[in-house]
Amino acid sequence: MNKRNILKLCIVSLIVCIFTCGCMMSSVIPPSIEVDAPAFPANTPVDIPIYTPDEPNFSVDPNKPMVALTFDDGPSAQVTGKILDLIERYGIRATFFVQGQNLTKYPQHIKRAVELGCEIGNHTKDHKKLTALNDEEIIVQRDYINSTVRDIAGITPTLLRPPYGNMNEHVRETTAMPFILWSIDTKDWESRNKDAVIYAALKDVQDGDIILMHDLYTSTAEACEEIIPELINRGYQLVTVSEMFAAKGMALDSGVSYGHAR
Ligand code: NI
Repeated sequence: MNKRNILKLCIVSLIVCIFTCGCMMSSVIPPSIEVDAPAFPANTPVDIPIYTPDEPNFSVDPNKPMVALTFDDGPSAQVTGKILDLIERYGIRATFFVQGQNLTKYPQHIKRAVELGCEIGNHTKDHKKLTALNDEEIIVQRDYINSTVRDIAGITPTLLRPPYGNMNEHVRETTAMPFILWSIDTKDWESRNKDAVIYAALKDVQDGDIILMHDLYTSTAEACEEIIPELINRGYQLVTVSEMFAAKGMALDSGVSYGHAR
């Protein structure tokens, strides 16, 4: 073999070697891997976790104190959203007793409240004194809210708060839902004063309380900015009415009224 043939053999061997290595490399490195691609490309929406009742961070410890914040007469344009912001920020829950006039105006608040794990209660269609109505009218007041909430948010209220706390035995039997009253009345509708609402909510609060407020007033939302973290600092779990009774092993029976869970 002369020098020329040896050179040819070397060149051919080199080409074969380069080709073989290329094939091996391409089979080792999957073509889909792009090392330089960012893990989360810009403009990709980031999912914010939505808390649901099933999530363990919302489990209620029956051995720790708890209270139920309740908001009546909403939803309203501005205030309900502010209160839901606080509920989301602190990872708590509350119960909203909604009434018909406002329910259909702001369904987005109902959907969001449910997504955040809050409870929606029935505060009747027209906010009338139920004792002044006949049986048929009472049923209309009840059913309108239950069916409208179900249409909006896919859940049906199981609790009723009578307007003005007005009721009698006949109304409770006709309505055939548990009646939820309260043990702490902040009178936020009367004072419209943030400090007065904070004082009323925290002054005598204890385990099992149901606190009455209204998601209609800016002063109530401002008060909640302090009430919620203060209750958490004192060791209270802020839960829905149904969660509180369930955690304490207390039944909620139709036709019976409840002012607290203890
Ligand atoms: Ni009311």
